[in-house]
Amino acid sequence: MNTVTRIVLLSVASAACGGEGSDDAEPSVLVDTNSDPNIVEVHLVAELGTSEFLPGKPAEVWMFRDVAGNGSIPGPMLEANLGDHVIVHFENRLPDATTIHWHGIRVPNAADGTPVAQVMIEPGGTYDYEFDANDAGLFWYHPHVNGDVQIERGLYAPIRIRGGVEPDVAADRVFVLDDVKVESTGQLSTVTDNLDIMLGRQGNVLLVNGRASSTLDVAAGTRERWRFVNSANGRYFNLDLPGHIFRVIGWDGGLLPTPYEAETLLIAPGERYDVLVEVARDTTLRNTYYDRGHNIPNNGPVDLMAVHLGAAGRAMAPLPDQWGDVALIPVNASTPRKRFELREEEVGLTEPQFSINNERYPNVTPIPGRPGDVAVWEIVNMTEMDHPFHLHGMSFQILDDAGLAVPRLGWKDTVNVPQMKTVRFAVKYGPDGRWMYHCHILEHAERGMMGELAIARP
Ligand code: C2O
Ligand code: CU
Repeated sequence: MNTVTRIVLLSVASAACGGEGSDDAEPSVLVDTNSDPNIVEVHLVAELGTSEFLPGKPAEVWMFRDVAGNGSIPGPMLEANLGDHVIVHFENRLPDATTIHWHGIRVPNAADGTPVAQVMIEPGGTYDYEFDANDAGLFWYHPHVNGDVQIERGLYAPIRIRGGVEPDVAADRVFVLDDVKVESTGQLSTVTDNLDIMLGRQGNVLLVNGRASSTLDVAAGTRERWRFVNSANGRYFNLDLPGHIFRVIGWDGGLLPTPYEAETLLIAPGERYDVLVEVARDTTLRNTYYDRGHNIPNNGPVDLMAVHLGAAGRAMAPLPDQWGDVALIPVNASTPRKRFELREEEVGLTEPQFSINNERYPNVTPIPGRPGDVAVWEIVNMTEMDHPFHLHGMSFQILDDAGLAVPRLGWKDTVNVPQMKTVRFAVKYGPDGRWMYHCHILEHAERGMMGELAIARP
């Protein structure tokens, strides 16, 4: 039976079972050990640990922790202010080699955390990452070696850069969305079947900040800022909050010039959305069906987090009239275009394979570019499922079908390319170095759907 048929027959498990937590769990924050107010210097460790996804049945996981703290899933949040210099002293206490990629941050190439930009950090090894916090927004960090395994085991954490325009809110919260494939023993499954490879591993337990069940208390009459990142290997989150709307104020790379309202929020793996909500009654944050391709059945909405309306909070200041300041990347008919065709194959293969322009990483021809060049990239999805496309080291702006600017301007570094559709974006190339681009369904990236942009001065 081929994979597509099996997907139709299998019901994709998606019950938010387990977890007794009754509070919301905000990620802890890495401790800044540098007294200079413009430098954030932290000490980060990756090691083995345990975490409970099914009540009373701890799972063996891989975790990040502050050198002076406890491990957690998600790992401790890296926090900095816009313009800060960031130094991360990292120590690998895992049994395997790893690296850390700072997803969405415009880092120098040596800090990008890919095996083409640095030597792998062997067990017992250390590496110092250094970069500037050039953009305010929500980003995240995760390994870039065997990402489908290492991230699934628990190695991921948010990064919040504050600064610039900040609307008055009663709470500024970060929600890291994930799912894990858990055996009845409570352990993470070590089996990767062809369905996991085709869709990206979809777990049977959905997590918000590492918890399968939680309740958020919101002060009545206030406005909150919720920042979401999807760190799952392959699951698409399509959020709703019955009775409420999301006011979307930011995307991956920071605030939008013009916020907009949405009833559902589709978040593909790797993407971030920054929203304002005004909770008016008790409700539930849910994950609802999204047709991501391959005839995945609709099993109905899944509850992610209860939202409880508490006592009245303080009055809110009016919303700002100026939001993000996003300079339009200039494109015209003579702007060079690059075409990237995404393909998957399974006929006659023991497991599905994925490619970009018929090349499978690491056997790829790097795309050449010079710092500051502007190009239009056309990502052509030749498959019957969606793929989230991520570019390292620089953000881009989505264009319309004719390759022209669209009215809804904002910075993206990961964009969902729907099944059998083409997405075009404008990008201004960043600094010298070897920058990866890939599908953020980690099983796809690790099985060929990855390439390299080689930026060098002439
Ligand atoms: Cu978040 Cu190359 O990835
Ligand atoms: Cu993909």
